[in-house]
Amino acid sequence: MFDVKKIRKDFPMITNHPEMIYFDNGATTYKPQCVIDAVKDFYENYTSNVERGDYPTAIKADRTYDQVREIIAELINCEPREVAFFANITAAMNQIAFSLSYDLKEGDTVLISEAEHASNVLPWFRLKQEKKINIRYIPLDKQGNVDLEGYAKCFDDTVKAVSVAYVGNVLGAVQPIREMSEIAHRYDALMIVDAAQAIGHRKVDIKEFDCDLLCFSSHKMCGPDGAGVLYGRYELLKKMKPLLLGGGMNARFADDGSVILKDPPHCFEAGTPNIEGVIGLGTAAKYLMNIGLNEIHEYEVDLRKYFLDKMIRLDNIEIYNPDNISGPLTFNVKGVFAQDAAGYLAANNACVRSGNHCAKILHNVIGTDQSIRASIYFYNTREEVDRFCELVAQIDLENAVNIFI
Ligand code: ALA
Repeated sequence: MFDVKKIRKDFPMITNHPEMIYFDNGATTYKPQCVIDAVKDFYENYTSNVERGDYPTAIKADRTYDQVREIIAELINCEPREVAFFANITAAMNQIAFSLSYDLKEGDTVLISEAEHASNVLPWFRLKQEKKINIRYIPLDKQGNVDLEGYAKCFDDTVKAVSVAYVGNVLGAVQPIREMSEIAHRYDALMIVDAAQAIGHRKVDIKEFDCDLLCFSSHKMCGPDGAGVLYGRYELLKKMKPLLLGGGMNARFADDGSVILKDPPHCFEAGTPNIEGVIGLGTAAKYLMNIGLNEIHEYEVDLRKYFLDKMIRLDNIEIYNPDNISGPLTFNVKGVFAQDAAGYLAANNACVRSGNHCAKILHNVIGTDQSIRASIYFYNTREEVDRFCELVAQIDLENAVNIFI
């Protein structure tokens, strides 16, 4: 039984700062005590490197680190050997684009959308500059939803990959990944999914998506910063060239320059990884699965509906994504610069993100490059929504402040 009061007690940031309304979960999430304890336990009781030592603490670190692949495999319904750890989704996306740079040639096309985060745009822009590939934008409606008919029309024989966010980081549009994969595969194109804003909020199921590559960051799902996951179909991972070379990822090398790499996923994990981050990620995944991803999602959808119903009654704001049923509420206070409005909220203990949210070409869709994003999570409450809406109602040109000047 989902009990938000009980859940809130798991988060020290909430119990230590009850006055704060934290609606910036799209940027990062709070960490439950069990994640903090898991990281602390590693530091206090078995600090060691992984895959290098033969003494008891190193073996414990190895096992704990590697078990996280099994936990993530359960979370996203794939095989443990298809889970590679990266610093974050940005690192994973750059790895994907780097590997594809060996397969793509001049005139090939990658489909993305104008709603994508920088980490799913800039690596492709580099391939456009350096390999002369084409980037084609998938048509979206005004609230960021892929138009499937328009999407299907984007295909021709030059399309080699599609890369989109399952849930958009600004508008929260949920894309029909399964259908998009099906169409991509008809053209032998890869389906790549940015699951940053979906993971930990709803079920993400590789088998259901039938995608080829998918990545996400730990810190967006109650885990530590600096850890992330790249899922890849194993046969595909085997063909991908690792971006980073170094210790831990090679089986051997010799003075004649020959190198034999380890098999995936290890060949993608050069250097000492973020061991404590990965261990914390495993604990976070178990914590979320224990509550239930469907239960979390249902609670969030209900809370967002409550939030929207209240916000829509305010006549001093414009909301950009009223019809999307999950994800953040993104809006502007009429006539007030987004960061100044966010300054008023900040001065009253309400945390949101303002600006372009790293989606710097989304203005082509919503008509502004400045907005306020209020992103909720399963530990937020109706009472916080009430307080937040009261604050938003008070914002006008007179009281908006830029607290940063
Ligand atoms: N990607 C994060 C966001 O959307 C930082 O805010």
